[in-house]
Amino acid sequence: MGMSVTISAATEQDAEQIFRLQYLCFQSEAALYGNYRIDPLVQTLDSVREEVAADCVFVARLGDEVVGSVRGRVAEDGAASIGKLCVHPRLQGHGIGGRLLRAAESALAEKHGAKRFRLHTGHRSESNLRLYRRVGYETVGTSQGADGVLMIVLEKPAGTYATTA
Ligand SMILES: CC(C)(COP(=O)(O)OP(=O)(O)OC[C@H]1O[C@@H](n2cnc3c(N)ncnc32)[C@H](O)[C@@H]1OP(=O)(O)O)[C@@H](O)C(=O)NCCC(=O)NCCS
Repeated sequence: MGMSVTISAATEQDAEQIFRLQYLCFQSEAALYGNYRIDPLVQTLDSVREEVAADCVFVARLGDEVVGSVRGRVAEDGAASIGKLCVHPRLQGHGIGGRLLRAAESALAEKHGAKRFRLHTGHRSESNLRLYRRVGYETVGTSQGADGVLMIVLEKPAGTYATTA
């Protein structure tokens, strides 16, 4: 690609860029469901700030620009919820999403003791489902968010890392 995108833990200074990036990236999901009230679009900057402070958050950077992000947290049952994976539309399809996912999985397992990883994605989001299945996730059920979109719930055990993006 002739450029270097690096993955690192997010700092509180990144919250505003993450907030703006997720607003941009999730427009395509909103269009897919005809629903512009999906959680990543209505989340407030303060709420993003709280998550960056409390959760396991990673960013992909290109120079000073945050071009991707993901976050996760371990629940009481030992499963880590991973969510809000997003990559700037102009940089999608180069493996950055896969790298972010692996970074979150490794940190959640190694530093936070996650035994399993859990993800949600909209039932019509074929490319997301492909990405998650390729790195070992399997459907375990469905759920319906407050926004009404039917979500597929996927899980995989910790310790099964993919070797390719
Ligand atoms: C989902 C999302 C984060 C994926 O990010 P990404 O950086 O494009 O992900 P990757 O590049 O790792 O994988 C995407 C595709 O690129 C392909 N790819 C990865 N590396 C590649 C490379 N070096 N060259 C060519 N293609 C490549 C992958 O095989 C994959 O193909 P597929 O769609 O046929 O499965 C991004 O599309 C996004 O922000 N979407 C909107 C928000 C969203 O829906 N988030 C998920 C919520 S659950």
